[in-house]
Amino acid sequence: MPHLRPFVAAVVRPIPITTREQRIAELDRAGHNPFNLPADKVSIDLLSDSGTGAVSVDQQAWAQRADERYAGAESFYRFRDAVRDIVPYRHILPVHQGRAAERVLFSALLGPGRISLSNTHFDTTRANVERLGAEARDLPCREAADLDSAEPFKGNIDVDAVREVLSGPDGSRVGQILITITNNGGGGQPVSMANLEAVSAVARAHGVPLILDAARFAENAWLVTRREPGYQDWTPREVARRAFELADGAIASLKKDGLSPEGAFIGVHDTDLADRCEVDVIATEGFRTYGGLTGHTMEQLAQGLREVLDPHYLEDREREAAFLAQRAQEAGVDTVRPAGLHAIYLNAGRVLPHLQPRHFPGHALACALYREGGIRCAELGSLYLGTFDAQNELVTPAPFELVRLALPRRVYDHSHLEYVAEILAGIAKNPERVPGYRLTHAPGVLRHFRCRTEPI
Ligand code: F0G
Repeated sequence: MPHLRPFVAAVVRPIPITTREQRIAELDRAGHNPFNLPADKVSIDLLSDSGTGAVSVDQQAWAQRADERYAGAESFYRFRDAVRDIVPYRHILPVHQGRAAERVLFSALLGPGRISLSNTHFDTTRANVERLGAEARDLPCREAADLDSAEPFKGNIDVDAVREVLSGPDGSRVGQILITITNNGGGGQPVSMANLEAVSAVARAHGVPLILDAARFAENAWLVTRREPGYQDWTPREVARRAFELADGAIASLKKDGLSPEGAFIGVHDTDLADRCEVDVIATEGFRTYGGLTGHTMEQLAQGLREVLDPHYLEDREREAAFLAQRAQEAGVDTVRPAGLHAIYLNAGRVLPHLQPRHFPGHALACALYREGGIRCAELGSLYLGTFDAQNELVTPAPFELVRLALPRRVYDHSHLEYVAEILAGIAKNPERVPGYRLTHAPGVLRHFRCRTEPI
């Protein structure tokens, strides 16, 4: 049976068709930082899969029924019920986006001198741990270091390493174990149920809360049904529910698998912990039955959470990502394997071997994709993860020079991805034409979002 895409466009948005000259001028104006480009000069926007998806006609229809009352709105209860169909925690608090959930929950679990252990903290997650004076320690599994291997669960945490920390001198300082599903900072790779079970047992034995950063819980569940022995006959919903059951709580940005432009939740079993979070949410986000969200958004989210676990939708997403990865490889551009669902990660270090890490090959490839094709994306390499001295010279490069092509949900079709692959192939044919970059302005905090660069 050939694959049939399970939706069509119901409302469309035109995209700008620009010339190379216009794009060169835009890049100059933007200080050669894709985050500074105005979106109306971007033809294909692969900067993020967060809040960038298309909503469905049913989401729009439900949004019409929004109840915007301050406390106890019907829209809140519909939202909470939809979350509870997947997430078995006693307490669910809505907040406006994932990083608000991080800030609130981490403030309750961490503090100066405390440690957060993770497979990989995502960038805002790390920032929210460090702002509290706590340490964010990444313990990815060994397989994660080999970008080319086809190991199915390279998002796993190294459970032996977790056990070692918990039984060692730092053990009493660990305030949480945070598992990011799927592992966005680690190539978008999934975490297996076996790994979650193992880390859950270790966490319980040591009395440390296990928290899921579940922004892409549905995509992780889908990859479990595809890749993990014993789960082939489970539905994505059953797998997702089981994953949440193995943890003590979760934070989830719903801008991804909630299929909505905004929203997140904090979910915990522990009533004391929920109380502390609730006070913070009421003081900084909004009353506990809206947390900064409109009824309109909560209705969209309730319906989005019903749609996102549809196996047809998830299979389609897997196929699109695999298609782009395959086309990139055919164009001579290596990608992190195996392909995940929310993004394709290009191995820019290999595409542009003439550029040293201090000239930012990932950033150079991201800028080239915009210059040659109006495609926006961002690097995950030394510009983001390197360490620098006071003169803005790179001291420690990132382990890999990657570029993330994030895939907005239900937005681009095969022809758009074919176009991306063609532009990529053109760049890969003459890689030496791609210049390196140097920093001209480098703020110390959240550098990659705010820096300016110039070609050399
Ligand atoms: N956790 C993970 C794993 C994420 O990927 C993100 C956001 C967040 C937390 C924060 O959520 O944006 O709702 O505040 N990731 C986006 C991205 C920005 O492009 O990967 P948020």
